[in-house]
Amino acid sequence: MDGITIRSLFKKKEEGRRITMVSTYDYLSARLCEEVGIDCILVGDSLGMVFQGLESTLPVSLEEMIYHTKAVRRGAKRSFIIVDMPFLSYQVSLEEAIKNCGRVMKETGANAVKLEGGEEIAELVHKLVNIGIPVVGHIGFTPQSVHALGGYRVVGRVEEEAQRVRRDFKALESAGAFMVVLESMPTSLAKELTENSKAITIGIGAGPYCHGQVLVFYDLVGLVEDIKPKFVKRYVEGGKLFKEALKRFKEEVEEGLFPSWEESYG
Ligand code: KIV
Repeated sequence: MDGITIRSLFKKKEEGRRITMVSTYDYLSARLCEEVGIDCILVGDSLGMVFQGLESTLPVSLEEMIYHTKAVRRGAKRSFIIVDMPFLSYQVSLEEAIKNCGRVMKETGANAVKLEGGEEIAELVHKLVNIGIPVVGHIGFTPQSVHALGGYRVVGRVEEEAQRVRRDFKALESAGAFMVVLESMPTSLAKELTENSKAITIGIGAGPYCHGQVLVFYDLVGLVEDIKPKFVKRYVEGGKLFKEALKRFKEEVEEGLFPSWEESYG
């Protein structure tokens, strides 16, 4: 079967069918996503917090993003894979940003890169698109600016901030971003952006009107038990299930019940 392409994603948008995206970082979860027909896999820099246990996404390196994307591609051969460019891999200079984005595309087999920001990265987006690198934008709450934004919060509730979000969206669209992630913003604002949009909008904490939705794999399967933002839905209580399995393994080993003859070589 053919892989997912920008054309097939736009076809879905035009037919009014919603696009699905999961943010994940490893071979096995990527394989599961592809097996159930998730359209896009985002190798998100949220891996810094979810996979590495860091306080924010800021310390994540380009090498780490490349490492995880290669693993994801091995598990998902036909999914549309988007790679988050980590903090400071695209903000220092245009030249360095293009080199880093190009490196990601060359080394990982990804289909697109994702950059956080709006007006301030429009020139870079334009250049990347011109040299053939598809770009996904990310506006609203942008985790790499968590300190500047004053913590994790909804962005665009006050008019001045909503205007900024609108300008950022327009700038990305005009620069040629084919998709924009809208994170943690009022539903009405995301709806307005989506209704007038040439680009595909993907929401996370942006209400139901976007062209598609994204959640982090470990959130949606319930493995992140201690934090649950309002926009996360746990489709299974994976943490409880896994702990139950681990407890039974521990008990059976301690009681000499595992391995039985069934799991032992004759
Ligand atoms: O890093 C990530 O996983 C993301 C999504 C939550 C949009 O940027």
